[in-house]
Amino acid sequence: MERTLVIIKPDGVQRGLIGEITHRLERRGLKIVGMKLMTISSELAQKHYGVHQGKPFYEGLVQYITSGPVVVLALEGKKAIETVRSTVGATNPAQAAPGTIRGDLAVEIGRNLIHASDAPESAENEVKLFFGNETLESWDRASDKWIQE
Ligand code: RTP
Ligand code: MG
Repeated sequence: MERTLVIIKPDGVQRGLIGEITHRLERRGLKIVGMKLMTISSELAQKHYGVHQGKPFYEGLVQYITSGPVVVLALEGKKAIETVRSTVGATNPAQAAPGTIRGDLAVEIGRNLIHASDAPESAENEVKLFFGNETLESWDRASDKWIQE
């Protein structure tokens, strides 16, 4: 079973969208195996967004992600990475399809509400980076057999 990392960014928390965003991911059929509210330090932000270092938007991105509390989720499911990314929508909300989180709830790239891991390797690294030694919850959900064949 695949696991992926989601961050409800500071704009999502400030706008009262924790429930709305979590609800959409839960309804899709993804299972929450880790969840916490935290403020990301600039050290952690630099590790998480290290791949973007040197790009023109990098400083602003680190500023944005550390600007207030976020909600971090570890989600589990078959093809969880791809499923979450398609629920989230394109990076630039102006181009994100209606029906997606960014396409319905956001308007610009610098305030795009949510992060989601983009590949198996980054998902594994990001889950480790944010949950470290904390044990993720492995649990049987009553609806599992109605969601996954
Ligand atoms: P994320 O990592 O946050 O899930 O977003 P993503 O994969 O869809 O996009 P990525 O290319 O990884 O970019 C990371 C975040 O940087 C900000 N960004 N700003 N101003 C710009 O041109 C620009 N490009 C990217 C966005 O907040 C994006 O989510
Ligand atoms: Mg990314």
